[in-house]
Amino acid sequence: MKVVVVYNSKTGFTKSYASYIAKETGAALLSLKEAKRDKTKYDVLVFGTYTIASKLSKISTYEKMRGRYKHSLLFVTGARPYEDGKSSEYYYLPGGINYEKMSSLKRGMMKLFLKSLDNASDIYKMLSSSYSFYDEKYAKEIIKDINNTTIE
Ligand SMILES: Cc1cc2nc3c(=O)[nH]c(=O)nc-3n(C[C@H](O)[C@H](O)[C@H](O)COP(=O)(O)O)c2cc1C
Repeated sequence: MKVVVVYNSKTGFTKSYASYIAKETGAALLSLKEAKRDKTKYDVLVFGTYTIASKLSKISTYEKMRGRYKHSLLFVTGARPYEDGKSSEYYYLPGGINYEKMSSLKRGMMKLFLKSLDNASDIYKMLSSSYSFYDEKYAKEIIKDINNTTIE
């Protein structure tokens, strides 16, 4: 069974989880850009992306791609802690915020969002500087499910 992990990542959280998942499952690892040019046939697609303004970045690309595989799994990173991000539609792996690696456009969007918040709130305090919830332990569940996948 050939597995590929494809990631869409701007500041590195999704890429870090994707690399770890690929290492632990023996899967190939490709950025979304690389995957678009890759002609190799894989049985299973593991797609990793991030949350932006409550939406999943490149989700329509994933929906188009997944039809070409026998099985697909989706994981999503975000700024929320693990408990707040859980979903029945994907594996939620908490990322964080990295202002240093963010584009100036996205930094501007974050600034606007912060302006809309009460500056004494916990969420304001959390989002006003870079932080990381990244931990390999959050990837254990998806790794187990990939390793238990069987293809006819
Ligand atoms: C403009 C902007 C909007 C965001 N909106 C959300 C959001 O609605 N919910 C969330 O949990 N995280 C949100 N995030 C945080 C990212 O999803 C988080 O940093 C993610 O791990 C980034 O992935 P990457 O490092 O692979 O690019 C937002 C980040 C930016 C820059």
